[in-house]
Amino acid sequence: MSGTTSPSASAPPPFGTVPAPHMVVADAVGATYGPPRTEPVAPLTLHPFAHVLHYGSACFEGLKAHRGIDGVVRLFRPDRHVARMQRTAELLCLPVPDEALLTEMLHTAVAANLEVVPDPPGALYLRPLLIGTEPNIGAAAAPSAEALLTVLASPVGDYFTGGGRALRLLVETQLPRTTPQFGEAKAGANYVMALGVTRRAKAAHDVDQVLFAPGGDVQETGAANFLLLDETRVVTRALDRSFLHGITRDAVLTLARDLGYAVEERTITLDELLGWQGEAALSGTAAVLSGVGTLVHDGREHAVNGGEVGATTTRLRAALVAVQRAEAADDHGWTVPVAT
Ligand SMILES: Cc1ncc(COP(=O)(O)O)c(C=O)c1O
Repeated sequence: MSGTTSPSASAPPPFGTVPAPHMVVADAVGATYGPPRTEPVAPLTLHPFAHVLHYGSACFEGLKAHRGIDGVVRLFRPDRHVARMQRTAELLCLPVPDEALLTEMLHTAVAANLEVVPDPPGALYLRPLLIGTEPNIGAAAAPSAEALLTVLASPVGDYFTGGGRALRLLVETQLPRTTPQFGEAKAGANYVMALGVTRRAKAAHDVDQVLFAPGGDVQETGAANFLLLDETRVVTRALDRSFLHGITRDAVLTLARDLGYAVEERTITLDELLGWQGEAALSGTAAVLSGVGTLVHDGREHAVNGGEVGATTTRLRAALVAVQRAEAADDHGWTVPVAT
């Protein structure tokens, strides 16, 4: 034995595997939420008849709090994440939390876990979760009359292992990620529907993600939005109900416009994707803006930007990260300091 630490022993824990010590919880009866309370993270007590366990009444959000270079911890676009959770709750017939309640719970969750907010490039990932808890296995066709809302937290580093390496995607043209009318919902069921496809793609092609392009309509991957880029343009699919309206996507498009790029929100066809002479990237709270180097389709590999992360991707990622860390002016009012 040399006595040195092996690379695997020193590698940071995988994204989302380390719970922060405190969670914030609020219970709802009917449409009304009770006051939030802060508790040590611990297993939840659920009746085995709980609606969520049988009928999938579960949704979540994912956002980050970043420590700025000035030491202040700020939430990134909490208003947009709250609004998206309200929309998802409405789609799943769960009680919609008030903006003020969920916003307060986000701030409390960060303040209660302040000591584990990592320095950049790490961040505190926040995971609001809403589940139907009514103990009634006869309620298949009825909303849950009780619900539990909690905000969990986890100190995180990179989502994709391997630092800034260019990602490999399998392009899936047969199967959709989820059902079209629920694509915009951040419901757990959407993720489990995509799981089998993603697992098979990883095993067969060693890819990082699946890019869903049902019928040749390029939409998003299992955990991020998809963009094509070059020296002058950023192209991504126009919003509709079929895929998740990423808040990072919106931020990247806004920064791209600020920097003088033309932004095209429209349909991307399979032919355009495979023939693209430029860069490709994934955007998301976890993915930030990650370059794509390879597309696998029909058993063939297509290099994107020579297999490398592109210059426009790198530039836009740096612009986004600079706002999140308070290294650049927050011209759009995206960052909100957490009161401590
Ligand atoms: C399916 C899917 N699409 C897109 C995104 C990106 O959304 P956001 O930028 O709001 O994190 C996510 C989450 O990160 C996601 O799970």
